[in-house]
Amino acid sequence: MPIQTEVPTRPLPTTTHAARSSRASDARSSDQHSLVIRKPRPSEGAEMWTVARDGGELDLNSSYAYLMMARDFADTCRVAVCDNEIVGYVLGYTPPERPSNLFVWQVAVRDDQRGRGVAALMLDHLVTTGELDALEATVEETNAASRALFASIARKHQAELTWSEGIPEAHFPDGHAGEPQLRIEPLR
Ligand SMILES: CC(C)(COP(=O)(O)OP(=O)(O)OC[C@H]1O[C@@H](n2cnc3c(N)ncnc32)[C@H](O)[C@@H]1OP(=O)(O)O)[C@@H](O)C(=O)NCCC(=O)NCCS
Repeated sequence: MPIQTEVPTRPLPTTTHAARSSRASDARSSDQHSLVIRKPRPSEGAEMWTVARDGGELDLNSSYAYLMMARDFADTCRVAVCDNEIVGYVLGYTPPERPSNLFVWQVAVRDDQRGRGVAALMLDHLVTTGELDALEATVEETNAASRALFASIARKHQAELTWSEGIPEAHFPDGHAGEPQLRIEPLR
């Protein structure tokens, strides 16, 4: 399966480029914008950091952290590219003790691109190309959008979504709210 999937922004297919090539031109003729979901390139950590910074909702890591993730963890990260701009990203890694799982550290979509399935497409791409057994993430109780996103992924893959304690508030040194952990499985 190709790692780069080119999909129109509306409607929101999740099939591969090869599978949907005959419908691509129709979609582009009604919407000149195209969306590409693919692994990040090493320098694109900078734009991922910019999306995180401008969104303002996430814990902003250092620019260095995004650059390292884009360089060394590209296989478990994704970017969404629209009109040559990065409009969304997923930071993910494989927990060493759970090699068939993917931990989603952050997912973010630029404000003007939200609500059109971009985050779901990035996560779907990771699930379908990664041969994963389970998806993990932590999500604060107040983050309704993120919870809805992961619930949607679980439904789509007919998998169960379960919660555990994750990172409790007491472990944070700075008053950060607790981060309950979700798990979506089985994915295959
Ligand atoms: C969370 C976020 C990534 C969602 O991105 P998005 O591209 O708008 O999400 P999608 O369009 O792919 O939506 C996926 C599902 O989530 C639902 N959803 C998305 N945003 C929602 C919201 N604000 N309220 C309720 N449901 C929402 C959609 O309805 C869809 O569900 P469906 O398939 O049942 O229709 C985006 O809102 C964001 O960047 N938020 C700030 C960063 C953040 O909080 N990240 C998550 C924690 S790491």
